[in-house]
Amino acid sequence: MKSPASTRTPVSVRAERADTDLQDDVPPRGGQAAPRSLRMWRPLRIPAHQDTSARVRGVYPFLAEGNLPTAGVYVGRDLYSGGAFVYDPWVLYAAGVITAPNLVIAGIVGAGKSALIKSLYTRSIPFGRKVYVPGDPKGEHSAIAEAVGGKAIILGHGLRTRLNPLDSGPRPAGISEPEWEAMVGARRLDLVGALAETMLTRPLTPIEHTVIDRALNQVVAQAETPILPMIVDRILEPGPEQDARLADDGRMVGHALRRLVSGDLQGIFDGPSTVTFDPALPMLSLDLSRVANSDALVSVLMTCASAWMEAALLDPAGGHRWVIYDEAWRLMSQPALLRRMDAQWRLARHFGIANALLFHKLSDLDTVGDAGSAMRAVAASLLANTETQIIYRQGADQVGPTTLALGLTRTERQLLPTLGVGQGLWRIKGHARVIEHHLHPEEMRAFNTSNRMTGP
Ligand SMILES: Nc1ncnc2c1ncn2[C@@H]1O[C@H](COP(=O)(O)OP(=O)(O)OP(=O)(O)O)[C@@H](O)[C@H]1O
Ligand SMILES: [Mg+2]
Repeated sequence: MKSPASTRTPVSVRAERADTDLQDDVPPRGGQAAPRSLRMWRPLRIPAHQDTSARVRGVYPFLAEGNLPTAGVYVGRDLYSGGAFVYDPWVLYAAGVITAPNLVIAGIVGAGKSALIKSLYTRSIPFGRKVYVPGDPKGEHSAIAEAVGGKAIILGHGLRTRLNPLDSGPRPAGISEPEWEAMVGARRLDLVGALAETMLTRPLTPIEHTVIDRALNQVVAQAETPILPMIVDRILEPGPEQDARLADDGRMVGHALRRLVSGDLQGIFDGPSTVTFDPALPMLSLDLSRVANSDALVSVLMTCASAWMEAALLDPAGGHRWVIYDEAWRLMSQPALLRRMDAQWRLARHFGIANALLFHKLSDLDTVGDAGSAMRAVAASLLANTETQIIYRQGADQVGPTTLALGLTRTERQLLPTLGVGQGLWRIKGHARVIEHHLHPEEMRAFNTSNRMTGP
């Protein structure tokens, strides 16, 4: 330490005085004079410091709550303040707290992620919000959809339900007939292209785009509502009037799509739709539990479901809608779906939707693309740029990667392994809370996913 003479800062002056006082007033222990030092055994008195909660929460994040709007659906109890906690992404957006209404929920298996999102969306339906689950690999949202007056679309082998990806869907209000025709044409082209890409597991070449476009135009000229087998036939046998080379150029696309209508994946897309997508219902869920073991089918079905939803979202009177991606790690591993998700993340504000992404751990992202690939970067930015992050309990090995990916503070990091079922760290654009989600007994019954484990 430098000599007191050379560093006569206010601190050292006070320390010297304290030492002098100590010698004058109280005999040191053992009767010996204490050496002049900066040590002092008197209770340290620091004047109380007052500041705004906005500043203090930088130091004590959970004790000094920032002001969040008090409107929204009830979630549960703030574990530090004991106060009630409410959440509504649209209210937070309107109050200027967040600039995009999307949220992510991460946590170990059985932490209560799905129960939380089910509470959030069912509790917000009475306030006029609608819910869309474009892919539910476990089928756990189907019963809830029926219970709230919505519909679950269940598709799978051996069922009589059919889904025609070329359906035009309901025309949104405020769009003229010619505009709608052009939009339906573009959507069909986009959708058949996306289905072919998924089956080929590679992007289409420009020639293959042309092949699909030609086939679609011919089929639409013949049938008002085309179905996929017609397109496949046209691609594989373009007819004498077509350039002979087109048949060769389209062989790969034709055979890839053929798998959906007469190959191992037949029985879902090969006829007119028996189910309708009614955007007026309070909740719609696409149940993928019957096809969950086929990544190709999950991907194809979700691509169709997203395309329908995008059409419904164009309706300016469509209102606010939750879009739930439960078990998102499965869905994110499909490049075509990840690209769609990313687009919807960006358009959330524009369409009035709040996307919710549920997954287990940050290392689930390792299943997305190759290390350093563009897909991996898209997935990482999807999480990092989401302004509402709800982190449930994490395994000890996941605390490091989660901290790194989401930029958690030390206090937040230490909290993660200690959280119980239904307890989570909520980070809402700089506000951090530890919230215990409360379930009503009826909700507990309806949302229970442990029946198979705890039942007889
Ligand atoms: N807030 C809560 N209070 C009490 N029990 C809860 C709460 N949330 C969830 N549970 C219980 O925990 C069980 C598992 O919850 P949930 O299905 O939501 O977990 P999860 O995190 O989605 O699991 P997975 O990763 O397997 O999908 C539920 O069946 C329910 O009984
Ligand atoms: Mg779940």
